[in-house]
Amino acid sequence: MTLAEQLRERLRAGFTACGFDGEALEKVGVTQAADLRFGDYQSNAAMVLAKGAKQNPRALAESVSEATDVAGLAKIEIAGPGFLNFRVKPEAFALRLGDMLGDDRLGVAKVSQALRIVIDFSAPNVAKPMHVGHLRSTFIGDALARVARFLGHEVITDNHIGDWGTQFGMVIWAWKKELNRTALEGDPLTELLRLYRLASSQSKEEDAIREECRQELVALQQGNAENLEIWKECVRLSQEGLRAIYERLNVSFDHWLGESSYNERLADVVESLEEAGLARESDGAVCVFSDESLAPKIDPFKIQKEGEWEDKPMIVRKSDGGFNYATTDIATIDYRVEEFAADCAWYVVDHRQGDHFKQLFSVAQRRGHKLALEHISFGTILGKNGKPLKTREGDLPLLSDLLRDAVQAARESSEGRTRVEDEEQRELLAETIGLSAIKFMELSHHRTSDYIYDLEKMVAMEGDTAPYLQNAYVRCRTIFSKLAEEVFLDGDGLVLEGDEEIHLARMLSRFGESVPAVLDEFRANLLASYLLDLARAYHSFYHVSPVLKSEGAVRKTRLVLCELTARVLRKGLELLGIDVPERM
Ligand code: ARG
Repeated sequence: MTLAEQLRERLRAGFTACGFDGEALEKVGVTQAADLRFGDYQSNAAMVLAKGAKQNPRALAESVSEATDVAGLAKIEIAGPGFLNFRVKPEAFALRLGDMLGDDRLGVAKVSQALRIVIDFSAPNVAKPMHVGHLRSTFIGDALARVARFLGHEVITDNHIGDWGTQFGMVIWAWKKELNRTALEGDPLTELLRLYRLASSQSKEEDAIREECRQELVALQQGNAENLEIWKECVRLSQEGLRAIYERLNVSFDHWLGESSYNERLADVVESLEEAGLARESDGAVCVFSDESLAPKIDPFKIQKEGEWEDKPMIVRKSDGGFNYATTDIATIDYRVEEFAADCAWYVVDHRQGDHFKQLFSVAQRRGHKLALEHISFGTILGKNGKPLKTREGDLPLLSDLLRDAVQAARESSEGRTRVEDEEQRELLAETIGLSAIKFMELSHHRTSDYIYDLEKMVAMEGDTAPYLQNAYVRCRTIFSKLAEEVFLDGDGLVLEGDEEIHLARMLSRFGESVPAVLDEFRANLLASYLLDLARAYHSFYHVSPVLKSEGAVRKTRLVLCELTARVLRKGLELLGIDVPERM
């Protein structure tokens, strides 16, 4: 049990002794203290429960504090209007370290109720560039999948790629006229993108070309054999190119059920929506309208125009008979329920698609689906000028270029100070650090905030960066490589004396609280900032507490602190999808 859970249990016993039971006890919670000056943990339970019990909160806190047995664990103090503050005793931290040492989960419990969760993330579009937005989705989605799995959930990851859509009209048109086979075989993503851009710019200039592209699309949708062949090849080659990027990033998917996987189901979906009275014809299109159950302000099917509320329907079949992104997404939910028996589906997608997901989730609910649906949205990556990140040419930067630049920055930053001499090893290290740096920069920010993409900053050894954490890990490991004797570490007889030792133990013991917190609001940055705090605690400890020169129980304790710091850093980073090098 984490220290927070142990304290909560003791505190509940205290409240029970003061006459509380049932639902009231459920409300007794213990959280990490916001400010360590007041203790390690705190509870506002006395304030929450005083009113119903017709008592003065401070007086209630006093009686509960007397009735709560925290011997060997903590000291209780009462503060302000009735806060209960707990200061954990060093011996309790020492016991916790001992437990963690013998536990390959490092004190992180599994959830009591495992859910089957489909995570829909990354999802780039075929023939269009995989850009920074997909980068955010990829890293956040992968981290959430890793955390949820580690916590014991059954996770199904699905890359819902955009492999069907209007872009294929243009790609097929250009493919027929301008395809460069050699280029395609060398680097499929780039060649497909070139074709797409070519057609897109030419059709903007010439109406006739736009019309030809449209015709190619219609032919594809009607099942024209040649166009279907080209489409298939585009998708296959794109997937190949994407897989290479994912492999490099160490991201994997259980499924690649792209939009086209649902084509066969779309007509039925629309029919069933109509039959259920959820959709109806409007100006030749078929649309889902509001069910008027919500106030217009929070109704995703309403929009305010010039002070009036108007309908904002979800179009599920266009007047030309074509289906939409939304139709596919409805079919996808059906599939995830039928085939995966999913309890939840999480969509890690740009915040600009917020309205789409609100409508989608409402439709799913009206169709009677019970699964919990979450849009895990994120903000924009900005350039140094504070505007959305663009290349010098004004295009959205390609993911592959960003990766290349990050590895280059890592190479430059480690020049002259790395201890790794072998050229090949150094190259591998630059790759690890460069890619980790981008990932960590992403995951250390609150997902809904925008942040500035700063290459030099993210590969720096100092600051809130991946190299800072990796360096802390390497330091821990170096100590063990310098040991003259072989040591077997166990948790018996650990003694924590100095403030730095105690603080490091405190941070280590919080791992079991920090990992589950990630899923509360789908915030990987909570784990990222926990790891930064841990590494800072380790650095402070390292400067004042010699390990190799100390003796007896002190030395053993310090070795345990180093060992656990290394393990927690490695595990924590692994949950964020980040590797640690053994040497830097
Ligand atoms: N391909 C879409 C895009 O790039 C994202 C798809 C997200 N997933 C979904 N089920 N709608 O914008």
